[in-house]
Order: sequence, then C-alpha cells, then structure tokens
Amino acid sequence: MDDASTLIDVKEYPDTEVQKNRVLTLEEWREKWVDGKIGFHQEQGHQLLKKHLDTFLKGENVLRVFFPLCGKAVEMKWFADRGHCVVGVEISELGIREFFTEQNLSYSEEPIMEIPGAKVFKSSSGNISLYCCNLFDLPRVNIGKFDRIWDRGALVAVNPGDRKCYTDIMLSLTRKGFRYLLAVLSYDPTKHPGPPFYVPDAEIKNLFGSTCNIHCLEKVDVFEERHKSWGIDYIVEKLYLLTEK
Ligand SMILES: C[S@@+](CC[C@H](N)C(=O)[O-])C[C@H]1O[C@@H](n2cnc3c(N)ncnc32)[C@H](O)[C@@H]1O
Repeated sequence: MDDASTLIDVKEYPDTEVQKNRVLTLEEWREKWVDGKIGFHQEQGHQLLKKHLDTFLKGENVLRVFFPLCGKAVEMKWFADRGHCVVGVEISELGIREFFTEQNLSYSEEPIMEIPGAKVFKSSSGNISLYCCNLFDLPRVNIGKFDRIWDRGALVAVNPGDRKCYTDIMLSLTRKGFRYLLAVLSYDPTKHPGPPFYVPDAEIKNLFGSTCNIHCLEKVDVFEERHKSWGIDYIVEKLYLLTEK
C-alpha cells in the first residue's frame, strides 16, 4: 500500500473484531430516511472528491460512473453535468426521490424485472439511473461495467460480515483502466458501534490488494460537533485511489 505524505498521525486501532458481528437491516436504513436521520448526507458535496476530481477523471469524457449505496449524494449531479453517465444503487426510495426533487431533475420510474418489487429511476436527460434495490441483488441485473467508482459512505456502511461479497461485486463491475476512489473513516471502534464502521488499512489491503494498486491520496481530520454524541474524540477520513494492477 502506497501512502501519501501527511501531517496527520492516523492511529490504527487493534480491536477490529468489536464491530465484526454488527448488522443493520435494510428496514433500519429505510427508517433512517423516514426519520430524517441522515447526518451522513453532505449538502455541499464531498470536499475531497472536489479536490481530487481531476485525478479521478484523468481528463476523460463520457465515463460511466458508479455510486454504490448512493443516498442522495449531490456529487451524482456534478458528474452528470459534465456529460458522464451516472448509475447508483440505493435501498431507500425516499432517498432517491429526494435526490431528483432537490436537484430539480424530472424523472421516470420502471420496475426492474429481474428483482421483484424493485424499481429503477431515470432522469429525463437519460444520464442518471438510480436502482432502488439491495446492492447484493445487483448481480441479477445487467447494469454494465464502469470506468469510475465513487465509494463514500458505502464500504463503511456495509455490514462488516458482508465486506468480501460487497468487494467482489464492486470489482466485477469495473472496466479495464478503471479508477476507484474509496473514502473510509478511522476512529476508535470500541467507542462507537457504527455505522459508519471502522475499516482498517489491513482490511483494505486484504479486500482489494490482490487486484488493485492502493494509493492513499489524503488523510483529513473530519471531527465535528455531532461526533461527540458517538462517544469519540477523534475521527480521520482517508481517501484511497484504487487502480488496476
Ligand atoms: C452512509 S449512507 C451514504 C450515502 C451516500 N453514499 C452519501 O455519501 O451520502 C449509506 C446508504 O446506503 C443505503 N444502503 C444501506 N445498505 C444498502 C444495501 N444493501 N443496498 C442498497 N442501499 C443500501 C442506505 O439507505 C444509505 O442511504
């Protein structure tokens, strides 16, 4: 693993087992949306993505960009506005509808035949498609391959026991020459049960190391007032660039 030089000294917590068996159900995620407990949503978009956008896009046009566990991430609009084609997957229909409404985008919806009860929402412009289904059902649908993956609030939100399966799906969706930006968080997992879950460096290496080059682009102190209620006093966000080996 290749590390960016940084002034932040990021602790790696040895007690990685503590969150191992934690499970959040899809119903619990949907309830968070209904109750407005979506502190993860960033209205202004993600600052590190903004900063590293050129590294991510590498000057290429008309890319297919995948947003796993997309919520109503405003960054989806950034890519669509630049002419890229965005595909997301999100279990909350409410979250998806809020995305289109808040971004002033008209859309249509249709059932996903392969997954009973699931739907896909498409912007009228045609370049944003959001699949409302469980990410783990996605292999049943042909959504094609992607040039870019923006993984923020996704690997860290997946139940720890499902990480390997999640990573296998992500890597199966990549196209030759892909770039995968992964944002994870480092905090003391004995103090907060998650999500977001703590994903240590060793886990990233374990999950992606055999197929990807892993380069840490940045480490930033992201501690905010709201984190005090989690019982933690330290949280650092790390941004990794994964590329094909
Ligand atoms: C922490 S939020 C992050 C949302 C978004 N990536 C962002 O940065 O704002 C995780 C999202 O994943 C959704 N989610 C959780 N598990 C899922 C699953 N198995 N399939 C699809 N969506 C899921 C939740 O409803 C929630 O909106």
